[in-house]
Amino acid sequence: MSFHPTYDTGNFLFRYQTIRKQTEKICAPLSPEDTVMQPMVDVSPPKWHLGHTTWFFETFILVPHLPGYQSYHPQYAFLFNSYYNSMGSRVARSDRGTLSRPPLEDIYAYRRHVDEAMEEALGMTSLLENPSIAAVIELGLQHEQQHQELLLTDIKYILSCNPLLPAYLPEVPAVSSLFSEKHLSNEWSTVPAGVYSVGYEGDGFCFDNELKAHQVYIAEFQARRSLVTNGEYLEFIEAGGYSDFKYWLDEGWQLAQQQQWQAPLYWVQLDGEWWMYTLHGLLKLDLQAPVTHVSFYEALAYANWSGYRLLTEFEWEVLAQLHANPVTDGNFMESELYHPVAAVIRDDSTQVAHLLGNTWEWTYSGYFPYPGFETAPGALGEYNGKFMVNQLVLRGGSCATPQSHIRPTYRNFFHADKRWQFTGIRLAKR
Ligand code: AVJ
Ligand code: FE
Repeated sequence: MSFHPTYDTGNFLFRYQTIRKQTEKICAPLSPEDTVMQPMVDVSPPKWHLGHTTWFFETFILVPHLPGYQSYHPQYAFLFNSYYNSMGSRVARSDRGTLSRPPLEDIYAYRRHVDEAMEEALGMTSLLENPSIAAVIELGLQHEQQHQELLLTDIKYILSCNPLLPAYLPEVPAVSSLFSEKHLSNEWSTVPAGVYSVGYEGDGFCFDNELKAHQVYIAEFQARRSLVTNGEYLEFIEAGGYSDFKYWLDEGWQLAQQQQWQAPLYWVQLDGEWWMYTLHGLLKLDLQAPVTHVSFYEALAYANWSGYRLLTEFEWEVLAQLHANPVTDGNFMESELYHPVAAVIRDDSTQVAHLLGNTWEWTYSGYFPYPGFETAPGALGEYNGKFMVNQLVLRGGSCATPQSHIRPTYRNFFHADKRWQFTGIRLAKR
């Protein structure tokens, strides 16, 4: 992928074991039945995620580089190849929910088989000292972390389709740890005009889509220090935001009509009161917490209604360079809250809360290659580059993103209609 020389290969085995265990920990509360469902095409069954992340290491490390390695099963490449045309034919994405066989225990046995071989491979200096192999091992670890977030959002969607609305984690964290009041008088932080560098420039891992670093001119703007809250979004709903075309892009308006959108995904109105489905079950809508599970279309309609706008991806990155707040940017997968929390930031600073973690932030930037972007040779060239059209960039990570996976230059991407990720809204004004 990106061939930075300084991977800490001495840490690979420990990170491999930790990340692989974490994926299984995420799946531990599920019943075998939960792991098979694909209630919409964007959602992959947890069983498939467990197999696919394993296939990645088998295909890109063990088969080419571990002498004598025997594939676990000749058909698993067909089942667990996601989208790599270079790697041959595969189950259609929309058919991933048909995998009632092989049974879940076989998928766990596949994981054990690959884990044993990977543990051997990660002890071989001949592999670790080869920079292009080390880069693929690092990519495999980062890939599995991406799937940890997808697992959590896919599990949420799967369970939300069950008429009993089961909780993934029934113990509800104390409300005070989920939501707390924000204390802000100055809501806006300024980014001065200037030429700034964007894109990845460190010596650690980054995805190919964060390269090449280059300079951009940013005109002065102001950004909201906190994310748009449920309370603010509710005002948009109550003001008729979903029934006035003038705030909406035409594509978004048509979709909202067709799908009868009246509120973000997972909002439920019961006897006039708003609730939201969370990974802890149905909870009362908290007005202070950031709104999440909105599409780009809804984010933009909200911005238009409020008289502000969304940031571009480069404005967002420069905002993070100047104002990220490491103290409050703490809500990642590791907190196990699995829900966005309200900001607690001090009045007297210019720091911006939750640029990292909490919710992904829709930007009004298309997902395109940076100048000098290079597609890696071979199958891994299919990883990011071939998706660079018709999607929007999201920045910052969410409450389901592993903390060590995210950085200010990270570019996530989804189509404008997608709502099942932990997506949220930050506003800007000029
Ligand atoms: C970056 C989240 C859009 O979901 O396809 C997983 C992540 N890439 N396996 C996706 C990914 C390869 C990717 N997103
Ligand atoms: Fe994948």
